[in-house]
Amino acid sequence: MIIAIDGPAAAGKGTLARRIAAALGLPYLDTGLLYRAVGRRVLDSGADPANPEAATTAARSLTEADFQRTDLRGPEADKAASQVASIPAVRAALLQFQRHYGATIGAVLDGRDIGTIIFPNADVKLFVTASLEARTQRRYAEILGRGEAVSLEDVRADLAARDEADRTRTAAPLVQAADATLLDTSAMDADAAFAKALALVQAKAAPRL
Ligand code: CDP
Repeated sequence: MIIAIDGPAAAGKGTLARRIAAALGLPYLDTGLLYRAVGRRVLDSGADPANPEAATTAARSLTEADFQRTDLRGPEADKAASQVASIPAVRAALLQFQRHYGATIGAVLDGRDIGTIIFPNADVKLFVTASLEARTQRRYAEILGRGEAVSLEDVRADLAARDEADRTRTAAPLVQAADATLLDTSAMDADAAFAKALALVQAKAAPRL
């Protein structure tokens, strides 16, 4: 059972994916963490995350410890992740890991290209989105919740810039798969979004649950 959850930044995919995974007893992979970890490694080395050689070397040498870091969130990590994610060789280096992750007992994965590239035959595909304004408010609250200072304007501008970069890149751009179900959570809280998503998953995957 593979459940692919894609969509733009701060649409609530992570919360949703984690809850669906728990409800169905499946493992959950936040694939954004892979790109965040690569971006962090490149920044550590003093190189530019847009540099293909540096980013590809980092992607090929990721270890478990890279995912345990506490500095994978925040504006700098967001931007570096988006930059390394546009490099085809970086995506190629991370592809098998993602496919293997789901290979044994299945998984819920969230990202940008799960339903289009990583698991084009996923059992269920959701494209989770929300208005820029709703996503801005959610990310703003999340950052304040971590005790960090930020302005609403900067959050909005960063999200818009990252969405634009993710949608217009040539390598695995953010796009709704033809057979994905659209879930717009602009007017839903986390519980309502979860209830709706779980109902969609159960309807699509009924024969396998
Ligand atoms: O949490 P948020 O929605 O802000 O971002 P994320 O899912 O952690 O992804 C961070 C960045 O990694 C995105 O802006 C994408 O550029 C990239 N990414 C990707 O290209 N493909 C994925 N499957 C997941 C993330």
